[in-house]
Amino acid sequence: MQDRNEYKQRVLISEKQIRESVQVMGQRIAADYGEEPLTIIGCLKGSFIFMADLVRAIPRSLHIDFIEVSSYGNDLSSSGNVRIVKDFKHPVQDSHVLIVEDIVDTGLTFDFLFEHIQLKKPASLEIAALLVRSTVDLQKRPVKYHGFTIGEEFVVGYGLDAAGLYRNLDHVAVFEQ
Ligand code: PRP
Repeated sequence: MQDRNEYKQRVLISEKQIRESVQVMGQRIAADYGEEPLTIIGCLKGSFIFMADLVRAIPRSLHIDFIEVSSYGNDLSSSGNVRIVKDFKHPVQDSHVLIVEDIVDTGLTFDFLFEHIQLKKPASLEIAALLVRSTVDLQKRPVKYHGFTIGEEFVVGYGLDAAGLYRNLDHVAVFEQ
């Protein structure tokens, strides 16, 4: 795909690969949490497509909420300053909480979300991320459920954007200027 601004996207992870990975992840999550109360909190905006597909792959009742944070704005690199744009509302004390993220990149948002949600005393707190950068230290930032590890490429699609665009691609693509 090439748009009028001459940006090119090369498919990195296909729609089929994503679909299969999301199904496996959903089954794992259902098995791990059993009948325990579960609240899934999607981190907007990037997680919106992954979240919609993942929750439909988890065959059990659960609560759904969203938090919107921002650290990138319209820039291609993180400002290093995570802020809440919209907080989640559902009370999570004594419920297991699973954060849903499109990508763990530098890990700053991961740190922020864990610190913020832990304050609400959930029964447990874990994260499901479609993408994890290979540079993320998984000992320090354990991503319990993750779909794909990626390198340094700037990626767009399936929720991820470049200056607000390309979130609606059904696959993950490398953004090449
Ligand atoms: C992106 C992405 C993650 C975060 C990961 O959000 O959706 O939330 O960056 O990056 P990090 O690991 O370096 O913190 P962004 O701030 O771009 O907002 P968006 O989801 O609205 O696109």
